[in-house]
Amino acid sequence: MKEPIIQTYELTKVFKRTVAVNNLNLRVTSGIYGFLGPNGAGKTTTIKMLVGSLFPTAGRIELFGQDIRSRDSINLRKKIGYVPEHPTYFLGMTAEGLLEYVGSTFHLPKLELKQKITELLKLVNLTEARNRVILKFSAGMKQRIGIAQALINDPDLLILDEITSNLDPLGRNQMITLLQDLRQEGKTMFVSTHILPEVQKMHADSIGIIDHGHLIMEGTIDELNKKLGGKLVRISPNHPLFRKALSPFVSNITEELDTFIVETDNKDRVWQTIAEISLQHHITLTEFRSTGLEIEQIFMEAIDREKTQEVSYAPKK
Ligand SMILES: Nc1ncnc2c1ncn2[C@@H]1O[C@H](COP(=O)(O)OP(=O)(O)OP(=O)(O)O)[C@@H](O)[C@H]1O
Ligand SMILES: [Mg+2]
Repeated sequence: MKEPIIQTYELTKVFKRTVAVNNLNLRVTSGIYGFLGPNGAGKTTTIKMLVGSLFPTAGRIELFGQDIRSRDSINLRKKIGYVPEHPTYFLGMTAEGLLEYVGSTFHLPKLELKQKITELLKLVNLTEARNRVILKFSAGMKQRIGIAQALINDPDLLILDEITSNLDPLGRNQMITLLQDLRQEGKTMFVSTHILPEVQKMHADSIGIIDHGHLIMEGTIDELNKKLGGKLVRISPNHPLFRKALSPFVSNITEELDTFIVETDNKDRVWQTIAEISLQHHITLTEFRSTGLEIEQIFMEAIDREKTQEVSYAPKK
């Protein structure tokens, strides 16, 4: 089993009347971890506790196997890069100025820092903007300089809070490509978002779903699919006779051009029906296979399940 990079134990944060994070047991190993949840679910509160800017009400956090309250937790900071949800950079600074400033807080030697800045600006596609003032940056450019400043100390773990929410589709795609490049370099990324298709595009290695401060599901996409039953079958061609024959006993027929997907508790019966129709009507079956859920479906199912189970939101005593 892989060693966890982030592990939380019954992590809880209560603000006056709100239980923002409730007994959270997260386990994050390498690669991209998508931290999903609707608005107000507790993502930012969790992240602020991970990076040490908020104290937990209860529970504890280990990063790289080390308690963040331990004596040499200062060394942990060097291994982490963080891009907050609403960054407040020194807007009057240039891109280079900001990176020089952040680099100096890590006491990087000057020459090394200069080289690093050139590399990072190239990586985030801001070479041309090196001497431009951040105030005049577009939202996408600000997100990208955010990533660059988070990478200045070459961290092993990047914690990114909603980094794509202000971006247009092109900017989002560029950001996703950048995350994948960083994964190739061996970095672990903890990425929060409420935009589900994004996690799909990122090919997240694992996801955690949080709602009302509660972790309602965690695992790889495959594991979550297994947990949720894997009831989907993908069939091609998308022939009306197939759909008509199946409609009395399958739920949810989703059409996608020349394919359709059905949800069923009885895959054998679906197979028999399709085989009979294709023989009787000489329709060549080109695809018949079990398929996984899309992240959006996993998310909706997980939230539905949570609603039907009795869940206590009170922190454990
Ligand atoms: N400083 C605070 N004081 C009081 N309540 C707070 C504070 N910060 C967060 N909360 C509450 O905690 C809950 C979780 O908020 P949080 O910002 O962590 O959610 P989120 O998942 O990041 O949401 P979003 O997707 O909108 O960013 C919300 O009910 C919020 O109102
Ligand atoms: Mg948030």
